[in-house]
Amino acid sequence: MSINHPSFGQLDTDRVIMFDTTLRDGEQSPGFSMNLGEKLRMADALADLGIDVMEAGFPNASPGDFESVLRIAETLGQRDNAPVICGLARTGRADIIRAGEAVTPAKRKRIHTFIATSDLHMRVKLRMTRDDVLQATTDAVTLARSYTDDVEWSAEDATRTDPDFLCRAVEAAIRAGATTINLPDTVGYALPGDMTRIFSMILERVPGADTIILSTHNHNDLGLAVANTIAAVAAGARQIEGTINGIGERAGNAALEEIVMAVRTRPDAMPVKPRIVTERILRTSKLLSTITGFDVQPNKAIVGRNAFAHEAGIHQDGYLKDAATYEIMTPESVGWSNSSLVMGKHSGRAAFRDKLNALGYGEVGDNQLNDAFRRFKDLADRKKIVYDEDISALVDDQFRDNERIKFISLDVRAGSKTPPSADMELEIDGVIVHATETGDGPVDATFKAIQTIFPHSAILQLYSVGAVTTGTDAQAKVTVRLEEAGKMVDGQGADTDTIVASARAYIHALNKLLVKRTRTEPADLT
Ligand code: KIV
Ligand code: ZN
Repeated sequence: MSINHPSFGQLDTDRVIMFDTTLRDGEQSPGFSMNLGEKLRMADALADLGIDVMEAGFPNASPGDFESVLRIAETLGQRDNAPVICGLARTGRADIIRAGEAVTPAKRKRIHTFIATSDLHMRVKLRMTRDDVLQATTDAVTLARSYTDDVEWSAEDATRTDPDFLCRAVEAAIRAGATTINLPDTVGYALPGDMTRIFSMILERVPGADTIILSTHNHNDLGLAVANTIAAVAAGARQIEGTINGIGERAGNAALEEIVMAVRTRPDAMPVKPRIVTERILRTSKLLSTITGFDVQPNKAIVGRNAFAHEAGIHQDGYLKDAATYEIMTPESVGWSNSSLVMGKHSGRAAFRDKLNALGYGEVGDNQLNDAFRRFKDLADRKKIVYDEDISALVDDQFRDNERIKFISLDVRAGSKTPPSADMELEIDGVIVHATETGDGPVDATFKAIQTIFPHSAILQLYSVGAVTTGTDAQAKVTVRLEEAGKMVDGQGADTDTIVASARAYIHALNKLLVKRTRTEPADLT
């Protein structure tokens, strides 16, 4: 039977709603905070990717979260064909009201309210009885419906919930007016067979379950998030929740790009067709890595640098005869393109733009292109061959938006004769500031100079240096982890000069910390 949905109208049985929570569940994970500009940029990319619902944030978590959901609703949410803009809320009135206010400007809007239903969560975390939870569900959904007809309700920790109680809670949410019911595997505990059992049970036992959309939301603690999602869809779920690159609490959420390509590659076994522009997957993944400073691992499915690389002789031989021997989807179908352009100091701006496109960065604004091109030329003067990895490291560093602290220049003296010292020049909120410091080595002097210019109490927890490519002229890629009042952030920086790369990484981490400072992390969200 087909469902009549308030935001999507009449839905065929093979229609699956793609719900992206990169900006909420994903952004909530340690080190992945984004500032407003970065969220707006990511939101645009997700819309271009073709997602149906964008969970833009948790408005009552902090004023910053409220503002970012509101801005996304006011800008992107006004466009024709924009995704449904969604705000998360617990069941308390204040949360629902804030979420309602934040999504109101969007043409299509959703409130997503949730409450835990497992005995463990109800007893220990909520200190509520089953009846309290049923009442809170009814009240929350009813209030949410006064803001929008599109209301999602989630049974947090659904996969560890007593089955009879889960059915009662879902029924209460449907009766109160929820149009999407989400059954999250909050702690990544379920196996695929559990998903089949739970989704089939709800469809069989709960009155009205065939009139709403059932949704699946899986965490990856056992590495099963994507497999569980596929099992839930096979059992009747018609909304898939996930994040780009699988980012999210602990081991993350189900990776949207993997689910989409699994479903696309196996139409023989899957009953649904996601409306995702798969050719945009890579650039969306890259943008997220650029903004957050976290690369995906090389062997990551779909978007890892080795995902389509063939190394073994037998594989290469087969692949050259017919790519289908070892490739189940084409690299182009997810946005990889074959570029044989070798970049060096004679390469021009057009070739550089082409290369960025081939590497999955998509269209780049003129200002960013000019700055990145200047740094590329500078690198090409110092380095004979500029590899794709060099360009990625360089532009990842360059394309970060709206940072309050910017690297301007660094001059370091080091060696066995003179005490190491660093002359540092930074731009803080548009004002250029200098400092000179000595230290226990050039990196220490550099970090002290940053500390002098921008005093802070964050503690350096990790400092690690790796090479982007091989050779003594390779760029160094530095990671710096800072901790302040229990909040942890990682920053990355790349340069042929290890000390400059270190300064960039430290500054990146500090900028992320400034974003974190403005927020109170909700404690009970996963
Ligand atoms: O994992 C979870 O249970 C969640 C809910 C808020 C949907 O993220
Ligand atoms: Zn979650």
